[in-house]
Amino acid sequence: MQIFDYKKEGIPKQKSLFYGADYNLDQWLEYPEILEEDIALMHEAGVTSASIGIFSWSAIEPREGHYDFSWLDAIMDRFAEEGLLVFLATPSGSKPFWMSEKYPEIRRVDSKGVRENSGHRHNHCVTSRIYRNKVSEINKILAKRYKGHPALALWHIGNEFSGVCYCDLCKSEFQNWLKVRYKTLDNLNKKWWTSFWGHTFSSWSEIPLQDPSIDSLAVDFLRFMNDQHISFIKNEIESVKSIDPSVPCTTNFMATHYDTDYWRWSEIVDIVSNDLYPLHDDRNDVHKRSIASDFMHSLMRGMSGGKPWMLMECSPSSVNWSKVNKLKRPNVHRQEVLQAIVNGADTIHYFQWRKGRGGFEKYHGAVVDHEGSNSSQIFKECAAIGRELKLLEAIKGGLCPKAEVAIIYDWESRWALGASKGPINLNDKYPYASDLYTHNCQKQFYALTTAGLSVDQISKKSCFDGYKLLVVPSLYILDEDMELKLNDFVNKGGILVGTFLTAYVNETNLCHLGGFPAKSMRKLFGIWNEGMDYLFPDESIDVKDTNPDPELALNGNCSTVVEQINLEGASSLAEANSDFHKGFPIITKNKSNKGSAYYLGAQFEDKILVNFYKTLKQNHNLNDSNEGLELPEGVVLRKRGSKEGDIYFLFNYLNTISKINFGSEDWMNLSEDGYLSGIVELEPYATIILKKLG
Ligand code: GLA
Ligand code: ZN
Repeated sequence: MQIFDYKKEGIPKQKSLFYGADYNLDQWLEYPEILEEDIALMHEAGVTSASIGIFSWSAIEPREGHYDFSWLDAIMDRFAEEGLLVFLATPSGSKPFWMSEKYPEIRRVDSKGVRENSGHRHNHCVTSRIYRNKVSEINKILAKRYKGHPALALWHIGNEFSGVCYCDLCKSEFQNWLKVRYKTLDNLNKKWWTSFWGHTFSSWSEIPLQDPSIDSLAVDFLRFMNDQHISFIKNEIESVKSIDPSVPCTTNFMATHYDTDYWRWSEIVDIVSNDLYPLHDDRNDVHKRSIASDFMHSLMRGMSGGKPWMLMECSPSSVNWSKVNKLKRPNVHRQEVLQAIVNGADTIHYFQWRKGRGGFEKYHGAVVDHEGSNSSQIFKECAAIGRELKLLEAIKGGLCPKAEVAIIYDWESRWALGASKGPINLNDKYPYASDLYTHNCQKQFYALTTAGLSVDQISKKSCFDGYKLLVVPSLYILDEDMELKLNDFVNKGGILVGTFLTAYVNETNLCHLGGFPAKSMRKLFGIWNEGMDYLFPDESIDVKDTNPDPELALNGNCSTVVEQINLEGASSLAEANSDFHKGFPIITKNKSNKGSAYYLGAQFEDKILVNFYKTLKQNHNLNDSNEGLELPEGVVLRKRGSKEGDIYFLFNYLNTISKINFGSEDWMNLSEDGYLSGIVELEPYATIILKKLG
């Protein structure tokens, strides 16, 4: 197994996996004893590193041009003496009050045109030249001061960038951005269909940042804001690299956050990092929630191309901002950590190391409680994980094997769907149409995983070579490039799965003419979808397998979205069996050239999707990610490369005991140093780490 070369690629070198937390010592400057207490506790917990200074601008520059680095010097030096590493943050996540008051333009303006008050965080105007300059100035000062410092391992650029701004600076920059993109106003008017409700622009300066009636504008606005964040972050990266190019940079993502197309962001960072706070609700569907985290991690795995990435934040216990802030049940936290690791994470960092005494996050989970010692269960559990991560050292740098199956996750389709009025809108179940998009991707991921298939997530710009099965859930935008790539994939023998809401609009959110799925997709799938029924949340339509005696039946129901499919060369695998949909094909297959194109014309219950993918797995000889083990739904086997060969992780996502039959002794249990054979019981939420013998 090939191992990622940290030395060559310039990512911080250290033998063990990175383990640590956000460490906000700047909140504890009145407590000089805390640093030494924390260092001792960090060693006890197996900590290797900490993210420092994330919101510390007012601590390092309390007044404009007056700096105080004494506290930061102390941590940097003490960490270096103790063999601990620092992921040093640039402080742009939060603006000091003196700055926001003196330079109001750095504060965001909301959609009603009101400039925000000073305070809070993550709310700078992404366009403000003043803020960009201020950030680059402080970054250079930090970079000069700590250049070559032995504790400095990584730049943690800002924090969780996101959001939009409606100020005049952003408006005129948006207009410039549009000029570059569309060249002439006439072209823009056509591409945006502005004749609708008489919205034709006669000058660039008339173009607003928002007008819900122009849904092409809404998509371009998000593209623009995404570009602004990217150029803001690039400006930060360039400022630290101009002083010392050798220290790598990251910025922490938020998985599937709406307005951030992380495929693009991942191109500008040296290493991908992500924050994840799965909600803990063990009353129902916990295994689906767990697989939702797996989905998020695998997205990061996709962004780093199977190379290591960092889980930059997670909570060791609960969060404090959710409606219900449940503590993690026994085994859950360890399972979540290992879930990230099997997906390629080489770093597990918490938010936060120590609970602060005041402020918005004083009750957020932390390794060290207000009580202050190593006595809590949470501290003990974190320390146990620290010990276990040391034992997993061989996995550091291990690559994640490429899967045969890929899902395309596409922010632009999500934005276009979110911006369009209909064919789906708001309802109780999905607060936003765009969430139906992610929900559909997760449902396909869940069914594929449950069918025993490993899944990569890729972007529409990725190369499809090497994949046997490509799933494009609700790939709403079909552009020319995508059309060529999908045809090419199937022509070469690939298996393509499209779902409802595939190929409706072009890149500016105009409906394609000539029927959906649009253009040559109609021929490729061999179907014409003549309309969509959008159901109430409590409604469903029966589904019946068209084969009278199928091995894996596509029987059950579908809900939310039902398309009206006409066959144009495809055959029907299942049809609707109730309401006026009765008799309409609803799952279809088309042989096209050397490959096949399947279409899922509704949102199906999981059992149908699982059987559908199990059938594809059988018929197209796809590799079994369960390595021949019979696993109940909710138990998942995954693997990652290591210096000592592939390491397998078996996750019981269920809150009940699961029994697995290992047959004869083919497996070694690394968690307990023994061999597995016969029936093995997995505790609720248990994870075991395995090696396959022979
Ligand atoms: C985010 C932020 C952290 C903290 C946590 C709390 O991930 O980056 O600063 O606020 O949320 O869950
Ligand atoms: Zn702005």
